[in-house]
Amino acid sequence: MSTGHPLGIDVGGSGIKGAPVDLVTGDFAQKRLRIDTPAISTPEAVCDVIATVVEHFDEVRSGSPIGVTIPGVVQHGVVKTAANIHPSWIGCEIEKLLEDRLQHDVVVVNDADAAGVGELHYGAAKGHEGLVVLTTLGTGIGTAIFNEGVLVPNSELGHLEIDGYDAETRAASSVKTREGLSYPEWAERLQVYYRRLEDLLWPDLIVVGGGVSKDADQFLPLLDIRTPIIPAVLKNKAGIIGAAVLATAAQRKHGTHTA
Ligand code: BGC
Repeated sequence: MSTGHPLGIDVGGSGIKGAPVDLVTGDFAQKRLRIDTPAISTPEAVCDVIATVVEHFDEVRSGSPIGVTIPGVVQHGVVKTAANIHPSWIGCEIEKLLEDRLQHDVVVVNDADAAGVGELHYGAAKGHEGLVVLTTLGTGIGTAIFNEGVLVPNSELGHLEIDGYDAETRAASSVKTREGLSYPEWAERLQVYYRRLEDLLWPDLIVVGGGVSKDADQFLPLLDIRTPIIPAVLKNKAGIIGAAVLATAAQRKHGTHTA
């Protein structure tokens, strides 16, 4: 039986970060551990780092749920896409790989889905009914869709084709940095993106996450769209918190076994 807190681990392009999560407060139960993502971030190399993060926290020995995020589609424990990660992730049975390695149940989910769950339970979208879309603006654009609080997993609306381009290659925050765009210049691209998103989905609320959301006052007011659009509030904690929530939900649904 689980006696400790669930552990959330967020695998990003530059860092792999983990922390036990207090599901009552929706915050970290201990200081998070961050380790650089290996330069060649193959599944095996990333699994080594995840194992180090897991071993750092006592929670795991008590059979607590472990949730891990990956920046790609994860369907039934298998990674299906790798837009911004090493191509060797495609087809990787990541849940099995980690479970064999850790001798512990693991739930692996898409990073934007996890961030969305964090924001829905404890952050900017808390208490919002209806259709809520979270977008994360970072290296790529991640999306999470919720209808009446239920996640529709693995939406990949950062890859909408707009004017012949994959949207994230024009409007991700990494593109703003790479091309040296000002906030008003970048906002013009976001305007096109969010207008298309709302025309296709008709959400009741759009939440904007990713590191750049801390500067939301510099670009969200420039957008002219019909849907209320607000910044995320959990910042870089959202993925870890959401992964812990999802792993806990999976453990309740399927029961638990630990080696
Ligand atoms: C990937 C998504 C991911 C997003 C944010 C996109 O390129 O396709 O799966 O959620 O980046 O990391």
